[in-house]
Amino acid sequence: MDYSLKSPSIHFKKNARISSIEEYQELYQESITNPDTFWAREASELAWQKPWDEVLQWEAPDAKWFTNAKVNVSENCIDRHIIAGKGDKTAILWEGELGEKREISYKQLQVEVSRVANVLKAKGIIAGDKVLIYMPMIPEAAFAMLACARIGAVHTVVFGGFAADAISDRLADSQAKLIMTSDGGYRRGKVIELKAVVDKALEQPNCVESVIVFERTKQGVDMLVGRDDWYHDLVPSVSDDCPTQGFDSEHPLFILYTSGSTGKPKGILHTSGGYLVGTYVTSKYIFDLKDDDIYWCTADVGWITGHSYIVYGPLANGATQVMYEGAPNYPDFGRFWEIIERYKVSIFYTAPTAIRAFIKAGDDLVDKSDISSLRLLGTVGEPINPEAWDWYYHKIGQGNCPIVDTWWQTETGAIMIAPLPGCMDTKPGSATLPFFGIDADILDEQGNTCSTGEVGKLVIKQPWPSMLRGIYKNPQRFKEQYWSDYPNYYTVGDGAMRDEDGCIWITGRLDDVLNISGHRLGTAEVESALVEHDAVSEAAVVGKPHDIKGESIVAFVILKDGFEDSDELIIKLKAQVVKSIGALARPDEIYIVPGLPKTRSGKIMRRLLKELVKTGAVTGNVTTLEDSSIIDTIIDIVAL
Ligand code: PRX
Repeated sequence: MDYSLKSPSIHFKKNARISSIEEYQELYQESITNPDTFWAREASELAWQKPWDEVLQWEAPDAKWFTNAKVNVSENCIDRHIIAGKGDKTAILWEGELGEKREISYKQLQVEVSRVANVLKAKGIIAGDKVLIYMPMIPEAAFAMLACARIGAVHTVVFGGFAADAISDRLADSQAKLIMTSDGGYRRGKVIELKAVVDKALEQPNCVESVIVFERTKQGVDMLVGRDDWYHDLVPSVSDDCPTQGFDSEHPLFILYTSGSTGKPKGILHTSGGYLVGTYVTSKYIFDLKDDDIYWCTADVGWITGHSYIVYGPLANGATQVMYEGAPNYPDFGRFWEIIERYKVSIFYTAPTAIRAFIKAGDDLVDKSDISSLRLLGTVGEPINPEAWDWYYHKIGQGNCPIVDTWWQTETGAIMIAPLPGCMDTKPGSATLPFFGIDADILDEQGNTCSTGEVGKLVIKQPWPSMLRGIYKNPQRFKEQYWSDYPNYYTVGDGAMRDEDGCIWITGRLDDVLNISGHRLGTAEVESALVEHDAVSEAAVVGKPHDIKGESIVAFVILKDGFEDSDELIIKLKAQVVKSIGALARPDEIYIVPGLPKTRSGKIMRRLLKELVKTGAVTGNVTTLEDSSIIDTIIDIVAL
């Protein structure tokens, strides 16, 4: 394995936006000691309908960025480029799983988004109303998001892999009035029936008045008269002109639900001006975006990566990007490399879990395509193991492309720690240094900065423009979750350490959050899905290291009296989780146990179960357990 530091090539450096470490240091210093100057300069590259009074008003934990400014995020992602003479530039190069192709210019994007915005208005949606979007990876998903932004509606996108219960929970919390969906989407050649899932979700009490359905898969769906309309019946018949109104910089842009330590996901709230600036600036510098780049982020718009680095960041930069509907392995694991060759992709951003699956699929599939158009690679979502990094660097980057390992979260809105590719040496497995304006530190329990090599809690000590503004309808949880470990510092929830070069290594979550194939899930969510089954009295869920997925889900379940362990029951329990959360949460292993390791106050010691599934044993002190013999019993059950 080649663990040596990798420097950008002279060619890359010469053309990079930031090409020397001194330049980074100087700008970084300015961004930390004089953030107003730094952010005002960057923000002034965007279109504001009314300038701000102050760059930042900060009363921890509440931040207001670009106060009293008026801005339209959709205008910045579309109209700004048309005014600059780039209306004919391609915004989106879309490829469907079945091979269909669409090319959408910025001018066409304006027409499509304006029409959808006018349809939303005609349906009575006004600024501040919530719109739930549950769509496959088709351009209409981006149109829907940008249409909301255009009229000040607040979107809440739900990943197409989530089940009906997950949608109804989000509808109940967000009080969305309208849903945008499609009849279905394609995934590995199969139709995923999205409208049917929406119908099921709408069996629960809700405030939804209208459902707009894009026709993609044509398998036939039920349409409820008075509530449901086809996209193709509404959109072509309205005006393609929807002037952009300016909204307050702190006007909500979207709510995105993400998993935490409780059974219910929390609605992370992002607002307009700061989020726009954060995604614009990080895309520009970290992806070193240039006018002639072809950029491709393989995420789904249902996750924060799709929001920030498919929709808002790249489009705010006027980039040309590839959007692909389907799975990386359809019809085989060569699909991504074919797409890179077909569209001459120059910047490619994906997840470590995908890279590990590609390694397993074999190099032959890569060799079939000419991927020499690539100049920059990125990763996101989980720590990348050095073996995967090394393969990505040599096999995909062909030793020529810097890799930006980008650390960030739904809550941070934009990338926080990552190399700037033209000026930093990279290391396999390290996200390296904080981005401009990000005052990251690693603290011990007493709040002291950890020494080199010591693992502690990652914190951010100053506000940044794209930070979350709260948990929707739950200010108390917002304070407790993120701002209570150390006064006025944002606690990330990840462990980290700094090496002798000051580079940051993320060591993983410190809380009960799982990372399955880069997808974030709470142990408590899976546990509450399991106890919904009649047979289950109690459940404990932990993550176990997995070669491809990073982590897999292992559940320990206590049955109610009258129920017996059987293969059939295990299948039913797995199906229960799929039904209430979605296939992404299906446990890999379920063990029926007579008890769980609990403290005397009744708290489940998941830490012990985690060690047990990882190593097959439990070391250390178990005397605080209510019944320490349960550990040996569980070890025997797992070993069977
Ligand atoms: O644990 C970190 C991990 O993913 C978490 C955030 O998950 P989510 O909000 O779903 O956003 C994922 C996409 C930004 C973090 O707390 N994570 C994300 N990126 C990295 C990472 N862990 C290590 N290295 C990364 N580059």
